[in-house]
Amino acid sequence: MTAKSGRHFLQIPGPTNVPDRVLRALSRPTIDHRGPSFAEIAREAIEGLQQVFRTSGAVVVYPSSGTGAWEASLVNTLSPGDKVLMFETGHFATLWQNMAVRLGLQVDFVPGDWRHGVDPALVEARLVEDRGRAIKAVAIVHNETSTGVTSRVAEVRRRMDAAGHPALLIVDTISSLASIDFRHDEWGVDVSVGCSQKGLMLPPGLGLNAVSDRALAASKSARLPRSYWDWEPMIKDNKAGFFPYTPATNLLYGLQEALRMLLDEGLASVFARHRRHAEATRRAVQAWGLEVVCLNPEEYSSSLTGVMMPGGHDADALRMAILDRFDMSLGTGLGKWKGRIFRIGHLGHFNDLMLAGTLSGVELGLALSGVPFIRGGVSAALDYLSSN
Ligand SMILES: Cc1ncc(COP(=O)(O)O)c(C=O)c1O
Repeated sequence: MTAKSGRHFLQIPGPTNVPDRVLRALSRPTIDHRGPSFAEIAREAIEGLQQVFRTSGAVVVYPSSGTGAWEASLVNTLSPGDKVLMFETGHFATLWQNMAVRLGLQVDFVPGDWRHGVDPALVEARLVEDRGRAIKAVAIVHNETSTGVTSRVAEVRRRMDAAGHPALLIVDTISSLASIDFRHDEWGVDVSVGCSQKGLMLPPGLGLNAVSDRALAASKSARLPRSYWDWEPMIKDNKAGFFPYTPATNLLYGLQEALRMLLDEGLASVFARHRRHAEATRRAVQAWGLEVVCLNPEEYSSSLTGVMMPGGHDADALRMAILDRFDMSLGTGLGKWKGRIFRIGHLGHFNDLMLAGTLSGVELGLALSGVPFIRGGVSAALDYLSSN
């Protein structure tokens, strides 16, 4: 390992760069989580999360990774043997379905090519076929972090309504929350699953569930075993700013600060900033003569861009060369994309010059690694940024 100077570039699609303001908040002294000062912080954080999820309903905050929040969404709403409709959009959708199977649910897992999102028409068709109303939930990943493909949740909701089917809609917003437009209430989402280390610009350690009234009603009769993940004591204690067990005190300081930053910027501006950086990145990729993983422009992700490697070239060798030479981490290919793609994260605390640096690192790395490509991707991105 050679000595490094300057700042590391953390351009994986989460955990993302933590702003200095948030780092300073995280480093404040830990206080009594059952005292009045803490309650104020917790209440502000939960109210801020309601704004980010666009809900007036409950938001539950666990000391957990996103995987815990996945589990919470299932065990609070479903019973052993319940049927769940899921879609193979990529690695994370696959992991979530594995979890559902392990929990004793019956999953109808619709196969996919890891280059497209959930097909809303197929959701409708599957629900129309289900005359006996055996399907209790449709569980989808909004932004598939392993591919850079964003599913059209509002359209999925419309199709569920068209089918007149009562299944719950459970959505993983882990890499879309606070980066890509998402509306829990307006889109009739029953459980939204989130976590801290992506668009919320925090370190890992907080898992989130936004919960609709229908989901809350379903939780009264849901029989999958739950204890740590039970919404009921959380929602009850949260009303007074407290938690049924020790919360991640310092992460909640960071959350309070990150939410202030996001809400000061305004969610519409946050989404526009992400869209613009994503478009500039795709222009760079296209100018390099490389292929974006996502095949449907309507499903391009604003959080990250997955890039296909030319045949015979290993994406991880490129990533390692870039890390070694330029001290920048890019996302690895996951699951079946191992070695075949790399992922550029452009979400969270990010600006034009950070993007310029990121794309420069990729262009230099491609040249260094002998990958066949056309120079000029960085210029194409800068041209777009300077005229938009
Ligand atoms: C879309 C998505 N879902 C779920 C997860 C799992 O979250 P965690 O690794 O925090 O448990 C991730 C992690 O990156 C993700 O990107």
